[in-house]
Amino acid sequence: MAPSTSHASVLLIATILALLLAATPITCWRPWPHLKPNSSDLLYDSSKKFEGSSEFVHLRYHMGPVLTGNITVHTIWYGRWEKSQKKIIREFINSISTVNARPPSVSGWWRTVQLYTDQTGANISHTVQLGQEKNDRFYSHGKSLTRLSIQSVIKSAVTAKSKPLPTNPKNGLYLLLTSDDVYVQDFCGQVCGFHYFTFPSIVGYTLPYAWVGNSEKLCPGVCAYPFSVPKYIPGLKALKSPNGDVGVDGMISVIAHEIAELATNPLVNAWYAGQDPSFPVEIADLCEGIYGTGGGGSYTGQMLLDHDGATYNMNGIRRKFLVQWVWNHFVSYCTGPNALDQ
Ligand SMILES: *[C@@H]1O[C@H](CO)[C@@H](O)[C@H](O)[C@H]1NC(C)=O
Ligand SMILES: *[C@@H]1O[C@H](CO)[C@@H](O)[C@H](O)[C@H]1NC(C)=O
Ligand SMILES: *[C@@H]1O[C@H](CO)[C@@H](O)[C@H](O)[C@H]1NC(C)=O
Repeated sequence: MAPSTSHASVLLIATILALLLAATPITCWRPWPHLKPNSSDLLYDSSKKFEGSSEFVHLRYHMGPVLTGNITVHTIWYGRWEKSQKKIIREFINSISTVNARPPSVSGWWRTVQLYTDQTGANISHTVQLGQEKNDRFYSHGKSLTRLSIQSVIKSAVTAKSKPLPTNPKNGLYLLLTSDDVYVQDFCGQVCGFHYFTFPSIVGYTLPYAWVGNSEKLCPGVCAYPFSVPKYIPGLKALKSPNGDVGVDGMISVIAHEIAELATNPLVNAWYAGQDPSFPVEIADLCEGIYGTGGGGSYTGQMLLDHDGATYNMNGIRRKFLVQWVWNHFVSYCTGPNALDQ
């Protein structure tokens, strides 16, 4: 039986939607994608210089804009957030541009990002500051978000009747943070966070944004590694997190990853590697799971131990954080402020 016209048009719309979604390059992150269950990688020889170095990585500039003006991060707190959790995240973002933290510092980590330039030779901005915030306490779009409904959450925040977030397509970054009881499409299986830009047809503006989720209840062994570890690896122990909150301490590195990529590739047409622009490999993707000297494969590299037994690799204002390294295109490997050989 031939489908009726209404079925056919529904089918057609579904097909177009599927094509649109499939063609949407979403740039994603997992802390350690390289490790297979029972991998012999666990026995990685840490004396080898690794840190992602590879002659096969061709990170190129594709002529699009990068964020060279003072970067302002507007945060949307979706769901239930404790004051203490917000504080850790705000202090991390404020640490990016501070000059007062003891080395190895978060601002030292940002220095690798600042090496990237646009067509005119202007560097990524030194300044990353907190902008306005919006609370979406009552889950305006439910407890299960898709990539498209995330844009609707951002639209609600910038068009709210009371205290809307300012729209700043040039230097604004929109950071949507979901609480530990919110599921987002592909969360845990493939991604812990991603970044892209909003569509004018949905939001009214083209705004670079990122989503990062609190994985504490859903999959901490995947997205808050190494402060939680997957159960399928026998003998692997979780490390103590620096701020006493496994979910949020795990989010910090994902937030850092996304901010670094948003700064260097905000419209997904600037700095990335790979032949296929719908699957760009960006400056933080190249260094997933690498936190110190010798890192690579499944080895995190050399990190630091705090007096209370917590593991970290850089200092911020008042707090310590564990943050993955980013790709340095001058030396063609991942670099970070706690490198032992600099
Ligand atoms: C991994 O090792 C454990 C115990 O050593 C075993 O029970 C499990 O089946 C192994 N998993 C795979 C995928 O080989
Ligand atoms: C700006 O970029 C150039 C070229 O990449 C680099 O040599 C320089 O050190 C960068 N400046 C800062 C302040 O990072
Ligand atoms: C950018 O930030 C710096 C502080 O890092 C400040 O001195 C400067 O006035 C800011 N520029 C603009 C245009 O807001």
